[in-house]
Amino acid sequence: MPEFAIPEYEATRTLNRILPRLKNQFEQAIENDPDGWNALQNRLTIKFPILFDLYIELYHSRYDFFYHLEDLLTTIAHAWFLRSQELRELDTARERDPYWYQSNNMVGGVCYVDLFANNLEGIRNKIPYFKELGLTYLHLMPLFDTPKGENDGGYAVSDYRKVNSSLGTMDELEALSRDLREAGISLVLDLVFNHTSDEHIWAKQAIKGDPEFEEFYRIFPNRNLPDVYEKNLREIFPEEHPGAFTFHPQLQKWIWTTFHSYQWDLNYENPVTFNRMAGEMLFLANRGVEVLRLDAIAFIWKEVGTNCENLPQAHTLIKAFNAVARITAPSLLFKSEAIVHPDDVVKYISPDECQLSYNPLLMALLWNSLATRKVNLLSKALQGRFNTHPKTAWVNYVRVHDDIGWTFSDEDAAALGINANDHRNFLNEFYRGRFPGSFARGLPFQENEVTGDCRISGTCASLAGLEKALLEEGPEEVEFAIRRILLIHGIIMTVGGIPLIYLGDEIGTLNDYAYKNNPKLNSDSRWVHRVKTDWERYRRRNDLTSPEGRIYQGLLSLIELRKDNVAFSHGELHILQTENDHVLGFAHPGVILLANFSESYQPLPVHVLNGVMDKEPVKVYGTTSFVNGKDLVIDPLDFLVINHQV
Ligand code: GLC
Ligand code: GLC
Repeated sequence: MPEFAIPEYEATRTLNRILPRLKNQFEQAIENDPDGWNALQNRLTIKFPILFDLYIELYHSRYDFFYHLEDLLTTIAHAWFLRSQELRELDTARERDPYWYQSNNMVGGVCYVDLFANNLEGIRNKIPYFKELGLTYLHLMPLFDTPKGENDGGYAVSDYRKVNSSLGTMDELEALSRDLREAGISLVLDLVFNHTSDEHIWAKQAIKGDPEFEEFYRIFPNRNLPDVYEKNLREIFPEEHPGAFTFHPQLQKWIWTTFHSYQWDLNYENPVTFNRMAGEMLFLANRGVEVLRLDAIAFIWKEVGTNCENLPQAHTLIKAFNAVARITAPSLLFKSEAIVHPDDVVKYISPDECQLSYNPLLMALLWNSLATRKVNLLSKALQGRFNTHPKTAWVNYVRVHDDIGWTFSDEDAAALGINANDHRNFLNEFYRGRFPGSFARGLPFQENEVTGDCRISGTCASLAGLEKALLEEGPEEVEFAIRRILLIHGIIMTVGGIPLIYLGDEIGTLNDYAYKNNPKLNSDSRWVHRVKTDWERYRRRNDLTSPEGRIYQGLLSLIELRKDNVAFSHGELHILQTENDHVLGFAHPGVILLANFSESYQPLPVHVLNGVMDKEPVKVYGTTSFVNGKDLVIDPLDFLVINHQV
């Protein structure tokens, strides 16, 4: 809610003052594209008041407020006139079908361009593969120009308008977005908007001492303010640098660097920063990007005396970006990357902020249930925290390129008699493979020597036991590992929202320890699960005698199951009380899903299904034998799906 109410006529009056000035400025463009100008004016009439309110909330105290507002509208008009006819048609199509992303047809994939297929041309050649897998959403990890040395896997961006030359060109990216769209696949890219690399032109100008550009970042002449801020800050990459600031020898100043020292946090208290980043955002939208993943969203606003995460102004800021998109690139969606407490994660999710959001809680609790063989925390979280605004969707995943942090709520854990701290320590020990009997082969990430805290790296297959089973154990454990992998993927395919596959996981890619020999990478254990694709292994994907084939074919059936049933599109999730600690149960209209997280057979009394099941139940997935009306005994690590009529 705006801090103070602004009468609506003020927005109209302001717009009416700025429009003639835009008309002058864009005389030529308007002459060439009169329909475009009309369309823009129509959109502004409807949407400008929303943007106006948000912009006032952020920047009202600026004496030069109207200068910046007009500059923003100029940026908007400029981008609109450059928007292709094809994308304007996409805008119209999406406005007619605004919740397309909730469809059960949606299946996402994410990969690094270089690791998966060398370059953009390689990715284009993989379109037939993406179609074979059934993808409709492809997230390419940051592919922009970055510093040559360390660059945080591309998350240190030096130029948002330039593709890293080893991967291709912006023209190729644009052509790829078109080819993907023709294949029914939406291109997803990152908007890394919390920081730029220290080689971005803005940073370079700041280093030269230009005060206009220093204001793009949060730069301090001494430790006074940094010390005050740090009293309340969490350390994000403590192995790299303590605290949140980096001393710059040339500037002789302290720079806010939440992540690595070469990633400079942007200063959105400066409206120029907002306007320029809005320009970069629209540039990407005009290249055909359909979804922007808003990176590190929790950190974009800072206030003394707070932990500088998830502040109310961060939400205002994202809503303002959203309002810009609604005017200029209405088909563009935002996906929130907030890997924080679940109470905070949900605050970013709404149609006027981020329509999509990673679901880090589900991710963490799937791994929790595999380790504990218990579903209590998972079931409670799904019951109380899963249903979101009906016009939004979760992006459900089991692994991505980042570490696993145990971001469940301490209060939820306490309600089940679990001490959150001890439990996180247990999970870290378990997934590092140090807990007796653990099946996992993970590595610690960003171990904090002071607090003892850490997060976990590792591929899905290695964390689920496949690495250990193949190298040390044998067929029985291999079978369990494969079942674990399919079980958690089964849940993300059916729980509701967009399932996202970290490409490589679909054939059970194992950890790759080679990063340890690379001085550019060896300080960051996340590279153990950022693996160069082995296309030889992909050739085995149809061979049911290989783990690759078992996992791949299993996953294809799960995708088919999802695409066959509209119940897996958006809708309320109903949790079943299964009366068995090891079995998760949930339902959508006409379908019941049961997941046994233990390696033993688990009984399930049939009355658990009464009341949710109507008539003519049929098993459509799973190995458990199901006889209508009889108590069930669920196979070890089975994912059982029963369709019935409503
Ligand atoms: C996000 C990215 C992560 C990166 C960080 C800083 O969390 O997913 O890989 O290190 O932002 O950009
Ligand atoms: C931050 C990000 C999170 C990421 C981590 C870097 O916490 O929000 O996404 O996992 O940093 O690994």
